[in-house]
Amino acid sequence: MENLKSLTDEALALVAQSDDLASLDKVRVGYLGKKGQITALLKGLGKLSAAERPAAGAEINRAKQQVTESLDQRKQTLENRAIDLQLAEEAVDIGLAGRRSDVGGLHPVTRTIQRIESIFSSVGYTVAEGPEIEDDFHNFEALNIPSHHPARAMHDTFYVSENHVLRTHTSPVQIRTMIQQEPPIHVICPGRVYRCDSDLTHTPMFHQVEGLVVDKNISFAELKGTVDQFLKAFFEMDVPVRFRPSYFPFTEPSAEVDIQCSACRGAGCRICKETDWVEIMGCGMVHPNVFKACDIDAATFSGFAFGMGVERLAMMRYGVKDLRLFFENDFDFVVQF
Ligand code: PHE
Repeated sequence: MENLKSLTDEALALVAQSDDLASLDKVRVGYLGKKGQITALLKGLGKLSAAERPAAGAEINRAKQQVTESLDQRKQTLENRAIDLQLAEEAVDIGLAGRRSDVGGLHPVTRTIQRIESIFSSVGYTVAEGPEIEDDFHNFEALNIPSHHPARAMHDTFYVSENHVLRTHTSPVQIRTMIQQEPPIHVICPGRVYRCDSDLTHTPMFHQVEGLVVDKNISFAELKGTVDQFLKAFFEMDVPVRFRPSYFPFTEPSAEVDIQCSACRGAGCRICKETDWVEIMGCGMVHPNVFKACDIDAATFSGFAFGMGVERLAMMRYGVKDLRLFFENDFDFVVQF
């Protein structure tokens, strides 16, 4: 009994030193096992007198409990450590970068059309569309281009049948709009157009956006202002714009619109063919014969129309040097936008 305190301290120290479950168990057996030292003390209780026995028994049991608790705690610690070790060994590094999946984007031509639509929508224009296979009436006749008119030679037309063509411009949509709708009219008509033409700067299919305004007292000044403001909004800068007298059968007077070459800023380059200017659209006041074909009274109403090439605008805005890039579906080209 005199040794109980040092025996307990010794047991607790050994528990604390045990570094694995096997040596911990050895400590348990050594003190609390059948032949353990604390067990032996309990067995020896019988030799004590009845008066001494209860107090000694309680003391030994307290020591036994202390060692048991310390054994349990140490066991828990060692088990946790083993689990942590195993987890660390078996860990998978999920921090490794995965394979990135590419996200698609809009084609630059689509982007440009949407940009033009949003600029005109913001000032009250609506968007109208028409068929890509057109009849002779809408593509030519109603636009003041009768058969045998020399202006038909301006269009390198794909004929689908005697009376149907792949539309050579988006102007037939202005005819469809004026036949369907009473003035005032403010529309833009985007879409594909086709011409039998293929070289560095021409593809057999390209895109145009047509604009049409019909109301009372519409003048050429409004056409100029509209086109000028549109181009400045589109290019997001104070781009120089000029109007050159021109000819279209469906407008009178007519003009072609140039902007200062964005590639060389007017210094002269291959893109503007050293002229410093790039033609961007055709426009003019709606011809009375066109109003007549659509049953609109030319004495009451006047209007203007303009038509622009989408790829040309996209080339200028994004600095693309070859028109054909838009149609080759080269992924590296397309994803830049
Ligand atoms: N439709 C003409 C073309 O394709 C462009 C244009 C449209 C000209 C409207 C004047 C007015 O060449």
